[in-house]
Amino acid sequence: MTKNKWESWTPEATKDFQLTFISWYEKEKRNLPWRVNQDPYRIWISEIMLQQTRVDTVIDYYYRFMEWFPTISDLAEAPDDRLLKAWEGLGYYSRARNLKAAAQQIVSDFDGQMPQTIDEIRELKGIGPYTAGAIGSIAFELPEPAIDGNVMRVVSRLFEIDADIAKASSRKIFDEAMRTIIDEQRPGDFNQAMMDLGSAICTPTSPKCEECPISAYCESYAQGTMTNYPVKTKKQKPKDVYYIGTIIENKQQEYLLEQRGENGLLANMWLFPIQEVSKKVFEQMQSEWSEEEQQLSLALDQEQELMVAEENVVPLEGYDHVVWQKRNLGEVTHIFSHLKWHILVFYGRNTGEMTLEENQEWVSADRFSDYVFPKPQQKMAALLEQEMR
Ligand code: ADE
Repeated sequence: MTKNKWESWTPEATKDFQLTFISWYEKEKRNLPWRVNQDPYRIWISEIMLQQTRVDTVIDYYYRFMEWFPTISDLAEAPDDRLLKAWEGLGYYSRARNLKAAAQQIVSDFDGQMPQTIDEIRELKGIGPYTAGAIGSIAFELPEPAIDGNVMRVVSRLFEIDADIAKASSRKIFDEAMRTIIDEQRPGDFNQAMMDLGSAICTPTSPKCEECPISAYCESYAQGTMTNYPVKTKKQKPKDVYYIGTIIENKQQEYLLEQRGENGLLANMWLFPIQEVSKKVFEQMQSEWSEEEQQLSLALDQEQELMVAEENVVPLEGYDHVVWQKRNLGEVTHIFSHLKWHILVFYGRNTGEMTLEENQEWVSADRFSDYVFPKPQQKMAALLEQEMR
């Protein structure tokens, strides 16, 4: 049986590699707000934010989060709407809910202090092997790997590893390789050097091998096969889902907002009401409504409004007292990890009495910032704003 390539490194070569890599990191490391000390709370929050979001985007969110929730107990007691507000726009909102649940676990089970062993850290809600490894190594100097997509790319190139990184079963191969090469004296710096190398140099499509501090150790560089790695099977295309989005304004210039339920996608967040429709209905409405003349201004006075009322009453299920302008505002799309939302956005004025559901409110545009809006809602609000200008 052929040996894995990391098994042929001598202890001297491994030491030499670690020294080269760590001294590169010391010289080049990015100045990031979670690198100012080894506070496990600060490191934990950064790692959760960085899981699905780029460093540049995370920085501002991170400062604000730390200001709003400076300690684990502040987070454990955070009001849900404030927490969601802190996360607004970052996506994958279950991360925020899990953070609070884990903070409560730390308060109740660990006396308010972040636990210091990998097994205990793994018990916390929302913390998997990557995050446990990152917290353990960076905050507590535990010799644990922190393996994410970037690290798998670097390591697969370093040793020409053919395992499919999309498969969970490949994890143990990368884990074994990392445990062989990690600097046990400085595991946190070693892991962060991997992250920085992956994001700045060992990039997915055109790695900058001339600038790479460890190219002399890199098997795929020697063979010229860098871009064959990592091996990754294609992700499934996200499923298309179709909605009609309804922006309804009343006479007080307030808009109808609706809060989503406590569970599922975008739980507890606020949107203009949306109704799921079939692709067929979506496409029918798209073509019918876009054929209408686009001359109506949204800034109607009362008299015009009545005229519009007669000509343009278009029934839309569930909204009996809404006068729809026979035109749409446009279309919004948004991709979640497994779904692609298509929202056809309509504007209408509410003329009669409308009984609101428990989860609905009339809200003026200048109060939108008090509500937590997910990305698709921000895009619908932007269409409205464009139209009002
Ligand atoms: N990505 C994930 N964790 C990171 C960290 N600690 N520093 C930089 N980028 C990261």
